[in-house]
Amino acid sequence: MSGLFISFEGIDGAGKSTHIEALARVFRDQRRTVTLTREPGGTPLAEKLRTLVLNDAMDAMTEALLVFAARRDHLTQLIEPALARGEVVLCDRFTDATFAYQGGGRGFDPLVLQVLEGWVQAIPSSSPVAIRQPDLTLWFDLDPAIAAERLAGARLPDKFEAQPVEFFRRVAAAYAKRMAEAPLRFARIDAARGRAAVWQEVQAVMKRRRWLQ
Ligand code: TYD
Repeated sequence: MSGLFISFEGIDGAGKSTHIEALARVFRDQRRTVTLTREPGGTPLAEKLRTLVLNDAMDAMTEALLVFAARRDHLTQLIEPALARGEVVLCDRFTDATFAYQGGGRGFDPLVLQVLEGWVQAIPSSSPVAIRQPDLTLWFDLDPAIAAERLAGARLPDKFEAQPVEFFRRVAAAYAKRMAEAPLRFARIDAARGRAAVWQEVQAVMKRRRWLQ
């Protein structure tokens, strides 16, 4: 069975986490081996970088370099080996988050991000060089004002969660742009609806691709 790489994206508060876990259960019920992971993070080194990125003040380029360094370790140590074994890799955020947060939110040059993406995600033995991307990206799209309401009082906000709503408007716009550039890779989920309706939609996307019965 060939590997399957699915990423989950959206602004903070869009509510993707419960659906990632539910999807892992459904794939496991179908006897697939699932690797559930996240970015930045997923390996011991990348988790250390995550702590820095989420807590320490730094400029946007430093942030971008650290998330891509974490991604490189994550890809080589965890994601590529799991895909080679034919597993399902469910990843809470991937490179679209860098274009959205460092690019859109922080205003860092997306052309530089594109170069880093090409270096970091190059598949080693491919010729001509192919770039590893998720087979599918579920984008949980939610109005930043609603997301802010959902996050308020939920827990102590990290560096990004503490950003004003205008920051998340730029993040959301950058996600929309990434989807427009790769419409076949993306599925947009309307995250404004209730949890059950969102879960129905997630399952419908999987069934349309014949990945779930
Ligand atoms: P998040 O995925 O929301 O995890 P949790 O549910 O534990 O809060 O947190 C990760 C944060 O990191 C989120 O605010 C987005 C940010 N981020 C970036 O800024 N750039 C990136 O490339 C990635 C992967 C995440």
